[in-house]
Amino acid sequence: MTGPREVRIDVGTKTPATEIGGDLVGIFFEDLSSAADGGLYAELVRNRAFEFTSLDQPGWGPLTGWEVRSHGGAKVTVSTTDPAFSVNPTHLEVSLPDTPGSSLALVNTGYDGIVIRKGAEYRLNVHLRRLNGSSSTVRVALVDPAGTELATGALWSLTEEWVSYPLVLRAAASAVKASLVLEFSEPGGIAVDHVSLFPVDTFRRQENGVRADLAETLLDLKPRFVRFPGGCIAHGLGLENMYRWKETLGPVEERRQNFNLWGYHQSMGLGYLEYFILCEQLGAKPLPVVAAGVCCQNLPGGPVPIPEEEMANYIQEVLDLVEWANGPVNTYWGARRGAAGHPEPFGLEYLAIGNEDHQNDTFRDRFTRIHDAVRAVHPEITVIGTVGPSPFGRDFDEGWAFARKRQVPMVDEHSYKSPRWFFENLTRFDSYDRSGPAVYLGEWGSKGNRMLNALAEAAYLGALERNGDVVRLASWAPLFAKLGQVHWDPDLIYFDNERVLPSLNYYVQRMHSTAAGDQALSVRTDGAPTFERPETAFAGVSITAAGGTVDLTGVRFDDATGAEATYRDESDDAAAPTELILPITTTAEDYSLYVRATLIRGSDGFTIGFGGVGTPEHFAWNFGTWRNRHVTLYRRTDGYLDEIADPVPFSVEPGRLHDIEIQVTGRGRRITCLLDGEVISEYVATDAPEQRFSATAVRDSATGATVVKIVNATDSPVTARIFISDAPLEGFVTREQISGDPDAGAPCEPAPFTPTTDEIMLAGGLVEIPEWSFTTLKRQSSTTTASPDQG
Ligand code: AHR
Repeated sequence: MTGPREVRIDVGTKTPATEIGGDLVGIFFEDLSSAADGGLYAELVRNRAFEFTSLDQPGWGPLTGWEVRSHGGAKVTVSTTDPAFSVNPTHLEVSLPDTPGSSLALVNTGYDGIVIRKGAEYRLNVHLRRLNGSSSTVRVALVDPAGTELATGALWSLTEEWVSYPLVLRAAASAVKASLVLEFSEPGGIAVDHVSLFPVDTFRRQENGVRADLAETLLDLKPRFVRFPGGCIAHGLGLENMYRWKETLGPVEERRQNFNLWGYHQSMGLGYLEYFILCEQLGAKPLPVVAAGVCCQNLPGGPVPIPEEEMANYIQEVLDLVEWANGPVNTYWGARRGAAGHPEPFGLEYLAIGNEDHQNDTFRDRFTRIHDAVRAVHPEITVIGTVGPSPFGRDFDEGWAFARKRQVPMVDEHSYKSPRWFFENLTRFDSYDRSGPAVYLGEWGSKGNRMLNALAEAAYLGALERNGDVVRLASWAPLFAKLGQVHWDPDLIYFDNERVLPSLNYYVQRMHSTAAGDQALSVRTDGAPTFERPETAFAGVSITAAGGTVDLTGVRFDDATGAEATYRDESDDAAAPTELILPITTTAEDYSLYVRATLIRGSDGFTIGFGGVGTPEHFAWNFGTWRNRHVTLYRRTDGYLDEIADPVPFSVEPGRLHDIEIQVTGRGRRITCLLDGEVISEYVATDAPEQRFSATAVRDSATGATVVKIVNATDSPVTARIFISDAPLEGFVTREQISGDPDAGAPCEPAPFTPTTDEIMLAGGLVEIPEWSFTTLKRQSSTTTASPDQG
């Protein structure tokens, strides 16, 4: 019986190492999937300022999140008259008649219940104003679902002016689904606004702070930077929705609230000061993203620019951000920062302008003016431009050309792709121009939370380190998602009110980040297992229409069989798009597929599947992706959909006959898609191999430690024989390893396994590397040379 195959890994410390900027692995924070309100931001009261509106979600309003229990004619009305805060004017007015038994309770159950811990303290703050009558006291209580009071208190001596009433409540018992109750029982009227409840034990006990358990999970990642406030949120769905950093400063009650384009509400309680303080507490550099003077392009009418007459102010707003972050306290904005309790500058180094913006003249004009102003006034800031949502295509190419021309220091590339794409692209950055803009891989991830995804990302991170002279920063996205509120998956860290569930992807990020170096060493690998993906076998044609009816008046092949079918898709269930596999097939490797399709009803378009339909490997030409705005060619592989051609603007119109031709040659290596006789999309396979086994190495020049990182995403265990500068790696090394079934792991579930760490003794450089594993082997400095002054 033969043992595992031996793979020789040669780490060359003698060749010049590649300098890795010290900031490579960071995090991307966006208030998406309740990441901020109801998530990291530790506020426990939902809709604390009664500012929810139907813009957040149809049907939402000032009383969303609140229950009113009234007795004896007591009532509550919503008012904006004589507000406590003019920018957030909505408040409640409670009135009780002078009748025995009259009372009213306002009950808030927080974000799916409030978690209360026995012995812990909670900071309550309510703004109140006596309106008339003798009402002067409000009783408050934290109550468990059975009605047991966990803590009580009273707010009294109300005046006819708005006053904020703070109170610390100590819980006598625990509950995971508690409520906050405000009770009114005296005749008269009381106005109520901004009802806030925070645990005192936030991260670092910061007031208006963040959840300690979630922040600790971030701290463990050792992020070198934090990008905020996000991607799409930064430029917003319309100008009114654009994230304006100045509106997030100052007392939380006075920050303009807004709808969240992910379908809920932004309280702005987690604002720029809080983000910068969090960065400081995490030991990470702040990386704010401001809109490039245009809002999100995914609006029905496309992106809207800031009007010309407001551009000068907008540019000044961006310059003010740098002064606010870095200026001494004798500057206007530095003084504002000082007055907010942070006289020391934050040391801002990076500023991103724009996010995935569509590259057109308006964008280029707005971007150029902001970019040039920042670079002229603040040459010390590294400005980061944007090159579209995808790692290829028109926005990508034009964005890069523009960035080169304008000499933008760094650009933000995004890559949401399948594991296969990452394994195929491990050498992507090897050929990047070192003299042009550097790369910030601002959003990336392999579309899943399985071990195969984690391994693809481990390998890609190694490739990023190897190219650390051009890829300076990278942040996986999105960071957080709350269970039950997931608007985008996969995510790095799932959580609910009580638990934190880091994914396998998180552990891989953590393994890389805690075994970082500032120099990438050259590595040669001999004998590595290779991976052969079975050719996609043709299995048929399918049609998918979400919530509509598609009439295929003809489907035929131009091949030896000349098979034909006529089909009417009667699926009509908006909630359940079904893939209907047509009863036609071919045995030919090269074929043309003709489809004459009419959407009879429905607005979501339809998809023609071909190739290995019904298997995890096939192609799909989708008419009406991105809210019926594009036609896009996809490859489905390992269960994940990858765009393989640029989306082309197009809307499916019900009743219109679509004359579709798909020419396939080389078993899917070349695909040409025509609509009404015109070529719309073309794809030619790159033939890049999937590198399922890879090894990289870094050195930390401060400590002298060397780390070898090995990804084995195959089903073959191997014996690695590691040499460093031609000498076998010997002696004790610290091994961190994660391994397991490539299909294990799923969104919203706890990671099925976690990394293990141990000290192992290597002899002859030999170490066993299991199948489906990621391993880091850290050797502390072996050559500790005494410095001259140590004698
Ligand atoms: O990470 C989620 C979203 O993906 C970001 O908001 C956007 O930039 C990208 O399209």
